[in-house]
Amino acid sequence: MNRIVPIALCFAFAAASCTQEPAISEATPETAPTQAEAEAPAAVAEAVAPAAPAATLQEIMKNIIVPSADVVWNAVSYRSTPDGVEMVVPATDADWQRVRDAAMQLVSAGDMLKAEGLPVAAPDATLQDEGLEGNLTREQIQTAMQTQRAAFTTYADLLQAAAMESITAIDARDAEALSNSGGTLDGACESCHTGFWYPAPQ
Ligand code: HEC
Repeated sequence: MNRIVPIALCFAFAAASCTQEPAISEATPETAPTQAEAEAPAAVAEAVAPAAPAATLQEIMKNIIVPSADVVWNAVSYRSTPDGVEMVVPATDADWQRVRDAAMQLVSAGDMLKAEGLPVAAPDATLQDEGLEGNLTREQIQTAMQTQRAAFTTYADLLQAAAMESITAIDARDAEALSNSGGTLDGACESCHTGFWYPAPQ
């Protein structure tokens, strides 16, 4: 989205300053834009400017956050052996990189969650546990995301901070710190969910 905005602004405010080759059109007036060409930028601005994010919050949860968080959570495990509990850690650089890529997806997802006007879900989608007592409706979630935008953004920040904690651990090849960062991550999910999905009874 951010990449598109400057183009829209450019068309909206200063078509002249966006023209790449003013010198040429001055020198050769016969290349002046036709009316259709002149109107095209306005049409583009109209099509681009009001666009809300194409992905919904629900899709970001299901398609990016859940699979990426699972990779982070499963990266380090503990197994009982006759000699005691053994920590199973990523073996190769490629294994570590896979976990790092997943953590970076969580950082990106945090940015997506902060996008202005993010829709909760597609019109025909059903939320997980929709209608369960105590859960907010999608309309209530959508409203809360607007009226409590600062809190929602802070929770997205927490998600990103947790993922950065994982990345720091990965870069240090510190499996124990990576395992601990999974706990931070879990807390970040829960804090936003209890605020914006299934608030605790007051
Ligand atoms: C900044 C807020 C926020 C953060 C952080 C967050 N979530 Fe969510 N999540 C929500 C909201 C709001 C809903 C309810 C709407 C919905 O169901 O999609 C939700 C719903 C979900 C759902 C149900 C999706 C569905 O099909 O309806 C899953 C699964 C989920 N989150 C997983 C996670 C996990 C795992 C994490 C952390 C790694 C996480 N979420 C972090 C806000 C957040």
